[in-house]
Amino acid sequence: MTSFEKALKSTALAVEQRLDDLLPRNGRIAEAMRYAALSGGKRLRAFLVFESAGLFGAAGAADAAAAVECIHAYSLVHDDLPAMDDDDLRHGLPTVHIKWDEATAVLAGDALQAQAFEILANMEANAEARLALVSSLARASGAQGMVLGQDYDIAAESAAHPLNLEEITLLQSLKTGALIHWSAGAGAYLAGEDPAPLHHYAQALGNAFQIRDDMLDIIGDESATGKRVQKDEAAGKATFVTLLGLDGATARAESLVEQAIAALECYGPRADNLRLAAQFAITRTV
Ligand code: IPE
Ligand code: IPE
Ligand code: MG
Ligand code: MG
Ligand code: MG
Repeated sequence: MTSFEKALKSTALAVEQRLDDLLPRNGRIAEAMRYAALSGGKRLRAFLVFESAGLFGAAGAADAAAAVECIHAYSLVHDDLPAMDDDDLRHGLPTVHIKWDEATAVLAGDALQAQAFEILANMEANAEARLALVSSLARASGAQGMVLGQDYDIAAESAAHPLNLEEITLLQSLKTGALIHWSAGAGAYLAGEDPAPLHHYAQALGNAFQIRDDMLDIIGDESATGKRVQKDEAAGKATFVTLLGLDGATARAESLVEQAIAALECYGPRADNLRLAAQFAITRTV
């Protein structure tokens, strides 16, 4: 295991422990929430929260990481629904609407979203930091953030013309980039520091990460990704791979990673794990 893999693994354990403490335990929706939030995932967003907080020695990373992983888990539960991507496999397991039913998946997603804001509102941090985190996560998740990106993604399936480079960049920076952007900035909010360099890093990272996700739909392996592959083209998804081909998309992802790494210069070696995370975003097979 590389030192990056070890660090990612230890973040995963820390955020899963915190989620296990925080998520409700009683009833069907609680069970479905736990299934969605605790049965796998790379925990990259949590990693960004921990590493950005680490740059400034800020406390509170576990709660902020748990909050964004709740939003992420909710977004996947809804993304997999028949009305959206219609997927039956996630993290190598049946998706929530397959294991239970669609109503349970809708409600568990709704509840995970509310849970995220409850965690942030109640966490141990000063009121200013909590407010900044709540407000920015609401913005990143909602109708001007991830939800808007998901809307563009679904609309592109039936668009009269294929999306151009600029449109796909916007779609990806919303549907995937917005939560990654929030995660990387969270440490700065906790510390009361300027998030701008981290936000520049995350802007490039989010797009590179989604390009790799789109590539893995073509070259990836179901047993590694834990989700169905070879689905995007048939669904008419707008991706850089459809526009630029695999080689063009790879080149674009590599250049985005260079931009991401360049944005971290001001932090020196303290940001090495964030640099490695950027490399991981485009080399991963999971
Ligand atoms: C998958 O995200 C959906 C996208 C936004 C690309 P991840 O690949 O981070 O999902 P997990 O949590 O690791 O399974
Ligand atoms: C999902 O993008 C983005 C969000 C859930 C916000 P995808 O639809 O490409 O993610 P996968 O491939 O199903 O994980
Ligand atoms: Mg989708
Ligand atoms: Mg999907
Ligand atoms: Mg995908």
